[in-house]
Amino acid sequence: MVTVRLVGISKGWSGVKAVDNLSLDIGKGDFVTLLGPSGCGKTTTLRMIAGLEDPDDGEIYIHGKLVFSASKGINVPPAQRGLGMIFQSYALWPHMTVFDNVAFGLVQQKLSKDQINQRVTRVLADVELEGLAHRYPSELSGGQQQRVAVARMIVVSPELLLMDEPLSNLDTRLRMQMRASLKRMHQETNTTVVYVTHDQEEALTMSTGIAVMNKGKLEQYASPEEVYERPASKFVAEFTGNPQTNFIDAEVVDGRLKIGDRFIGHIDGDALPNAVTLSFRPEAMSIRQESTPNTLPATVYATLLVGASVLVYVHIGNIEAVIRAERGSKFRGNQEIWLEPDWTQVNVYSPTTGRRLDYAVRG
Ligand SMILES: Nc1ncnc2c1ncn2[C@@H]1O[C@H](COP(=O)(O)OP(=O)(O)OP(=O)(O)O)[C@@H](O)[C@H]1O
Ligand SMILES: [Mg+2]
Repeated sequence: MVTVRLVGISKGWSGVKAVDNLSLDIGKGDFVTLLGPSGCGKTTTLRMIAGLEDPDDGEIYIHGKLVFSASKGINVPPAQRGLGMIFQSYALWPHMTVFDNVAFGLVQQKLSKDQINQRVTRVLADVELEGLAHRYPSELSGGQQQRVAVARMIVVSPELLLMDEPLSNLDTRLRMQMRASLKRMHQETNTTVVYVTHDQEEALTMSTGIAVMNKGKLEQYASPEEVYERPASKFVAEFTGNPQTNFIDAEVVDGRLKIGDRFIGHIDGDALPNAVTLSFRPEAMSIRQESTPNTLPATVYATLLVGASVLVYVHIGNIEAVIRAERGSKFRGNQEIWLEPDWTQVNVYSPTTGRRLDYAVRG
């Protein structure tokens, strides 16, 4: 069942399209993240779903009901669209304590005092605010206020929850904790979540589906695994993963891939192009100490220890790349090494359009 259906929605201001012909189906119980760089149209999309912004074009369905249609002149007001929201700028009720802010929705649902106490206490513990229940919003830090806003929203288990960067003000530890709380809430309640973030790690860890946006357009809509392993475009490959994906141009000669003057692997398929761009994530190359037929020569210029692994920065010809090696690996500056691709993790892109090409590659 589809909870939110966007059909060709567009929105622009003074000739610039913030959202451009966006179509998206969000299933019941999905946790879908709108991911993309600043200004790509994430908040505008969420506001159109909520009814706070009118699209110039297109249709929106929520719970199977047409709530907006430019051509049919339908526009259901926000309060009647059946959703909960947390926005980049959220507002708590200043005259109410933290407890009362969070309890508000449950009071409206006419739950018993005991039930309200129990649920508010549990949610406040989830967001690590149990000690602050009797404070007023003005007595809280920005991150604490944001957590109250999240608690107020999840305590009522709405059927559809729209969240715009709800964890943006939190430090790393709290953000991880809140991610886990939101995920648990989602699993327990079967709430449909539309979640906005520009943080690729957040999107990859929390979502059941990711919609990657670029300049108002949808680049890819797929599972986190698919987005990470098979990015539909160079843009998606660049925007996901940390450190960045490496790209390297290769010539195609008689079904073989040639980088510089070295043949490195094979490419299979009909109507092969003359040139392709290969992508490989830092973990998709192994470092060898000796040259073998399908390896690429490289020179080390720096190594960085990052917790569980070592990042080895190398030059492949005049291209910079970064390879993830095992913790404890030791390299000297200017050391010559050889890189062996794990071809199952390599993707092929068109150098002209940047879109992924469906050719198989192998050693
Ligand atoms: N009310 C408005 N008037 C004019 N332009 C707007 C308005 N709201 C948004 N825009 C423009 O539309 C584009 C998309 O904005 P939007 O807020 O949707 O981006 P975003 O993806 O949420 O970015 P961020 O990650 O920075 O929050 C931007 O170029 C922005 O300047
Ligand atoms: Mg935004």
